[in-house]
Amino acid sequence: SIIPVILSGGSGTRLWPISTAASPKQFIALAGEESLLQQTVRRARAAGLVQAPILIANRGHDALLGEQLRSIDCTPARLIFEPVGRNTAPAIAMAALEAPSPDALLLVMPSDHVIADVPAFAAAIERAAPQATAGWLVTFGITPDHPETGYGYIRCGEAICQGVHQVDRFVEKPDSDRAARMIAEGGHCWNAGIFLLRADAFLEAMRLHAPAMLTAVEAALASATREGHRIDPDADAFAAIPADSIDYAVLEKAARVAVVPAAMGWSDLGSWDALHAIGSRDEADNLSEGEVKALDSRNCLFKSTGPRIAAIGVSDLIVVATGDTVLIAPRGRSQDVRRLAGQESPSA
Ligand code: GDD
Ligand code: MG
Repeated sequence: SIIPVILSGGSGTRLWPISTAASPKQFIALAGEESLLQQTVRRARAAGLVQAPILIANRGHDALLGEQLRSIDCTPARLIFEPVGRNTAPAIAMAALEAPSPDALLLVMPSDHVIADVPAFAAAIERAAPQATAGWLVTFGITPDHPETGYGYIRCGEAICQGVHQVDRFVEKPDSDRAARMIAEGGHCWNAGIFLLRADAFLEAMRLHAPAMLTAVEAALASATREGHRIDPDADAFAAIPADSIDYAVLEKAARVAVVPAAMGWSDLGSWDALHAIGSRDEADNLSEGEVKALDSRNCLFKSTGPRIAAIGVSDLIVVATGDTVLIAPRGRSQDVRRLAGQESPSA
């Protein structure tokens, strides 16, 4: 059976000022009553994954994470705390090294996504399982609807079997020209950032394409402190791991990569524009959360966890207020928010 692996170490800087270094987006109820992380744990259960998850998060969030897991009755199989972020490839390598058996199947999930159609998600996992069991690294593909530069693109190759394709090429985060060309060409999908991997097959691919990283990860785990299900890799050994994402370090290079296209209502809640796109808007296309009074305004995101927002006659704006900060930006510029967030929270 399949073990959920939940990546929860990102800093979510594009959703500042609500997402902060102390409490990044995965720990916030950005869409719905529970945090994105809690929804991710529940989604795995709802998709039929009965095994306890392996979670990899930042050590600074241990209290927050522990509390959120307790409140949904989740006892993880492993809770791995990184002293610093080294991006997703080392995090996934730790999960693979900690898997209960070398041939365990791991469903790697980010904790910053929304998936509206869980039965479709479950069906996609089922289609992917035989391919992952055979040692392929399997990703899930989403039909693109705009030339997004924040995602990985996959050119779908030959069908291996019904609903499973070889990956012809994997292009992580292209510039907008290249993204537009790939969409015009057709036959491309977005990488959902969710992976089904056999632990030993993934480690083998790392040994081939990122050997120094794998060795450094093994060293950090060998010197880790362990208590119950909690694992704390040694800080100095961990800091020595080169940082890279699974996409750049492994998937762009690996030979046996497959993609399962899945229409599952997937969305990456990466930015305020993304939140506006999937949220429930009024007839003037405003998305309002918290105390908001808006007159003759359209196509705006108004969100406050602090003071009331009052707006008259504005359009295409992002306004996000907290107890101490008000962010104002035109719609379409939400990718740039991280540039300001970096200044406010240098530890992010
Ligand atoms: N434990 C841990 N440590 N988790 C991390 C770290 C880290 O250092 N860095 C990021 N994460 C977590 C984030 O919290 C998130 O849940 C997930 O890993 C993915 O990281 P992102 O930083 O959000 O990646 P991305 O959105 O830029 O790109 C990836 O996802 C896209 C789809 O959302 C790539 O896989 C793209 O190819 C993909 O299209
Ligand atoms: Mg993301």
